Amino acid sequence: MLGLKKLFHSAVHSALWRNTQKNVFPEKGIGLYPTKALLRLLSFDIALQSQHYQFGKLIAPSDDVAAFAWNVFLKQNPNQMGNWSQKSSSFDVFQKAEHNAVHAFISLLHGNHSSTEGYITSGATEGNIFSLWTGREYLRHAYPKERVCVLLSDLTHYSIQKAADITGIPVVQIPLSSSGWSLDPQVLHVGIRRARKAGYGAFLLPFTLGYTLTGTNDDHKGICHYLSERPDIHIYCWIDAALNGMTLPFINSSFRPFKNPYVHSFVVDAHKFGGAPYPSGLVLYRSSLKKHIERFVPYIPQTDSTVLGSRPGMSAIALWALILSKGRREYQKQIAVCLAQKRYFIEKILCCFPKTEIVTDNDSITCGVIFHSFPQQKIPVLIERTFGLWAISQTYHFIEKNRKLRVYKFHFLPHCPKQEIDALCAHLVSSRN
Ligand SMILES: Cc1ncc(COP(=O)(O)O)c(C=O)c1O
Repeated sequence: MLGLKKLFHSAVHSALWRNTQKNVFPEKGIGLYPTKALLRLLSFDIALQSQHYQFGKLIAPSDDVAAFAWNVFLKQNPNQMGNWSQKSSSFDVFQKAEHNAVHAFISLLHGNHSSTEGYITSGATEGNIFSLWTGREYLRHAYPKERVCVLLSDLTHYSIQKAADITGIPVVQIPLSSSGWSLDPQVLHVGIRRARKAGYGAFLLPFTLGYTLTGTNDDHKGICHYLSERPDIHIYCWIDAALNGMTLPFINSSFRPFKNPYVHSFVVDAHKFGGAPYPSGLVLYRSSLKKHIERFVPYIPQTDSTVLGSRPGMSAIALWALILSKGRREYQKQIAVCLAQKRYFIEKILCCFPKTEIVTDNDSITCGVIFHSFPQQKIPVLIERTFGLWAISQTYHFIEKNRKLRVYKFHFLPHCPKQEIDALCAHLVSSRN
């Protein structure tokens, strides 16, 4: 069987070499049917290659209903330029789908429909660029750009560093709390002292709910309470909940991020956990912010307060179809399964390797794993490759001390089978014998 697969794999690749990899733009194309046949072969090839669950990759297959929505409407290739979430007239099907999806999420977060709006993004990177951009403009009235900085920790997603580069905002590093691998009032206090010493007077602060590496959550409520007692701190906060924004509202029915006046926007992805095909994210924000970045568009009956120009209407229709078909209950069920898999993995790995350090949050489907039983905390390369794992050794700056660690990230998505957890543990155990 393995021989046959290899044969098939090499046949596909030689076909590809012959037909597509000549580094030229072909004078005459190969035509529709040969191209379709090639694409079919490639899709079989991919199916044969992915034999094991990839624990480290945040990639889930598209849900059937979302794939169906793409199939039905893709030919129309809708463009969603502009922002339709607060418009009550001139809706076409795709604009209405975006409006409905945005307002479904506002209600999931118990937000106020008349003072909150949003749009469908290409993902959390765009949501973070949007948030930093609006934050910079919001603070600009009181502070010159040179006196504003963004506060980041070692765990903050690199897209925020990218957003800082694009918007020209300098970065100040703040430590992590060692108990929670996250931000809390104490570390913020230290961070602000540091930033003020460096000459900054106003701050942009992303809270993360679901750090990519560990799944841990910043204590955004505690920090907002601290800020309410410190009116001397000029700050603009938003929440990057790329992954946990799709789980926390379903687990905790009293999750209300916008109740907090310091939270200006909320970033979430539906293409990580959620079943939506890429690209599919959302940014929700307080409507009063829009004026800071709004642009007149001379060729559509709509202003634009988004990061991109043209946006795919397909993302809107697929997300709306997902919400409609699954509802809150189906997501709750899926999350319960993912959390059970994560607990099973933790029990099993601690049983096989009791020195293993696990960093996670009870409500998160991600965990960070430090394999202290392996030299340099590194597991064998073959196991890394087989199960989609990867980690570098890095220094993490905690409030008490620095630690050099290699942290592997694990995501327990709905398609993670228990047998794969058993298989991974068996591979790890036999590599140590
Ligand atoms: C916390 C966090 N923020 C932002 C992003 C960027 O998301 P995207 O790649 O969908 O833009 C990720 C991706 O893993 C993430 O985990």
